[in-house]
Amino acid sequence: MTTLSILFLLASTPPLIPLPQELAWNAGSFELNRNTGLINKGATNNTLSRLREATDLILRNQAGTSSIVLEQVPGMPDEAYTLEVTPLQLRLTSSSDAGFFYGIQTLKQLNQNGRIRAVKIKDAPRFGWRGLMLDESRHFFGPKFVRKYLDGMAAHKFNNFHWHLTDDGGWRMESKRFPELTRVGAFRKEQGVEWDYGNLWFPGPSSSEKLYGGFYNQDELRSMVDYARVRHINIVPEIEMPGHSLAATASKPELQCEPPPGVMAEYLKGTNSQAPTMMCPGKDSTIEFCKNILDETMALFPSKFIHIGADEVDKTLWRQCKHCQARMKANNLKDEHELQSWFVRQMDAYLASKGRRLIGWDEILEGGLAPGAAVMSWRGISGGIAAAQANHDVVMSPTSHCYFDYSYDTIPTSLVYSYEVIPAALTGEQRNRVLGGQANIWTEWLSTPAEVESMTYPRALALAETLWTQPERKSWSDFEARLNAYYPRLEQMKIAFRLGAPKLDPDVLNLAANKEWKFTRPDIAGAQLVLEDGTVVTGATVPATNKEVKVYFQLPGGRRGDPAVGRVVNLTHTTALNQPGLLSMTIPWTKNTAPPLSEFENAKQAEEASISLVARPTKPYALRFKGGLVVDKPGRYTIGIGSDDGSVLYLDGQKVIDNDGAHPYIERTVTIDLQPGVYPMDLVYFEAGGSSRLEFFWTPPGGTRQAIQSFRHQRSGSSDSDSLAGSGGSI
Ligand code: ACM
Ligand code: ZN
Repeated sequence: MTTLSILFLLASTPPLIPLPQELAWNAGSFELNRNTGLINKGATNNTLSRLREATDLILRNQAGTSSIVLEQVPGMPDEAYTLEVTPLQLRLTSSSDAGFFYGIQTLKQLNQNGRIRAVKIKDAPRFGWRGLMLDESRHFFGPKFVRKYLDGMAAHKFNNFHWHLTDDGGWRMESKRFPELTRVGAFRKEQGVEWDYGNLWFPGPSSSEKLYGGFYNQDELRSMVDYARVRHINIVPEIEMPGHSLAATASKPELQCEPPPGVMAEYLKGTNSQAPTMMCPGKDSTIEFCKNILDETMALFPSKFIHIGADEVDKTLWRQCKHCQARMKANNLKDEHELQSWFVRQMDAYLASKGRRLIGWDEILEGGLAPGAAVMSWRGISGGIAAAQANHDVVMSPTSHCYFDYSYDTIPTSLVYSYEVIPAALTGEQRNRVLGGQANIWTEWLSTPAEVESMTYPRALALAETLWTQPERKSWSDFEARLNAYYPRLEQMKIAFRLGAPKLDPDVLNLAANKEWKFTRPDIAGAQLVLEDGTVVTGATVPATNKEVKVYFQLPGGRRGDPAVGRVVNLTHTTALNQPGLLSMTIPWTKNTAPPLSEFENAKQAEEASISLVARPTKPYALRFKGGLVVDKPGRYTIGIGSDDGSVLYLDGQKVIDNDGAHPYIERTVTIDLQPGVYPMDLVYFEAGGSSRLEFFWTPPGGTRQAIQSFRHQRSGSSDSDSLAGSGGSI
């Protein structure tokens, strides 16, 4: 018996995710073994197959000393089930195959080595749309991974797999009618690991370039639909139009606007890597193409909803194209937004004529929403609100909570869990327009299955519960405890979930104040705390050393989570500022890491004895604030820096916060014990391009977060402005 299964046997209350609506644990347990009987009162063969998978037993269809009873009960809501377990009987009821399926998923989570704890469960989902979206255009992962992804979804009661099959990065659905879509559009020139939007090129199969990509043939697509169907997952295919269509326009240049300003021709020759990515809605042939490709899509995918994308359409070329302008004139369309809306209406009517429904990203609201269209709200929730108020169905997937390609720093699991899917602005009947929600996994920066999985899990579990469980049943602390106990099951499923870092207390050990590290030790089932060299940490503390410490959670199989990095400093302080105010210095700087302090010392001429940066430095540049941090009471401080791009905080010449690297705005905080006094301080920041921002803040003992310094450089039109504000803390 493995360590894992011993743990399972000992755990008396198995963690259930998502939490059922009604749940009462009882004493005793039901044992699954070869003598277990089966009494089937109306369940289908599909349900019996799923039960066989869940129990690992071929059950005889006759009563045993203890029996599983499957009973179809007409009138229960679709997807609902009850599960009643006593030592003698395990009774699962539902009116539908879907309800039996969800009952069996719960049964799998209850199963602890053949022992099912006695329980009474009554369950049904809160929302009918519980989705995950996977982008396979930017990176192609292939059927084996997608089946595994569907398995993970099914186990947590997701029921819509939104499959992003076409975009600028590649076309992944075989078309019999337009084979060039995959012959050319499924294989881009190998770019290396880094995604480079400006360097997408589809040189075609006869090119000598190294190609990268892949696609699903129609048999594979049909078989994926079947695989999902028996797991009660509907596949919503997304065929992007009229934007995000580079793979299509590269394969079929006639889909482009005319007269092309030479760009497409140059692109095809390889002399210009910046090809336009939108189709021409002015040409009748484009409309025909879109309808034809939707015909093939509908033939492959039985989904009621067909997703046509329609987000982020660059309309520049439409303004210059004679076909687009003629279309606008003929249809009285006042601008290009109305042209986009006209295009979406064509597709909406076409899908409706075939008994299907159109769904698109919230840009389909611009220029007027097509009559039957459903809206997927991604740029916040306002699109969802507007559509629901206009009596359209909506699926919520705002960037704030549902973009799982964003880092865990930006969207932590707890934030996903806190998401309330129905916007507060909706009332009465409008609330029923919210079909549910989904998370989106865009893959520009995720090129391997393991990366996709670690961005998906555990956040998908938080979303699963948010979409399934009624809000009054939800509690983050209860969920977190179940999640910590649930990781071994993800391990069993071989899902490369993200395992976070332990929490060090404090993060920065000031030898002038502390002698040991403390750990907050969440009870992750089976995991040990280890140091970098593998030493297992058994107690709650580790004595201070004079160097940095890294601590990890390590799972029984040896996999480690993210490190908690504890810094060690020994801070001396003075009682008075040893220099007037705060000095700022800027130097030109072109690397993607912050310069060491010595770089500034070597560039004294750049020094300004002022905290206001009047003239914006020539970019790219680095900036140093030098002064003293004034601490007036002893205790534990949380200090933070947020920056775009990187920043580093030094106290008394020792690195305290490392927020280095070229990156979007990211905040990092540390806790540190400080005595009253003035601490020599250096804050180094660099800006490598794009927008720039630096925030320096702290939370004093017993206080609330206060800004110490705030620096922003904003670009508005052609005039640039800098602002530097100091408040709250003192320096
Ligand atoms: C999207 O993220 N462009 C829908
Ligand atoms: Zn055009």
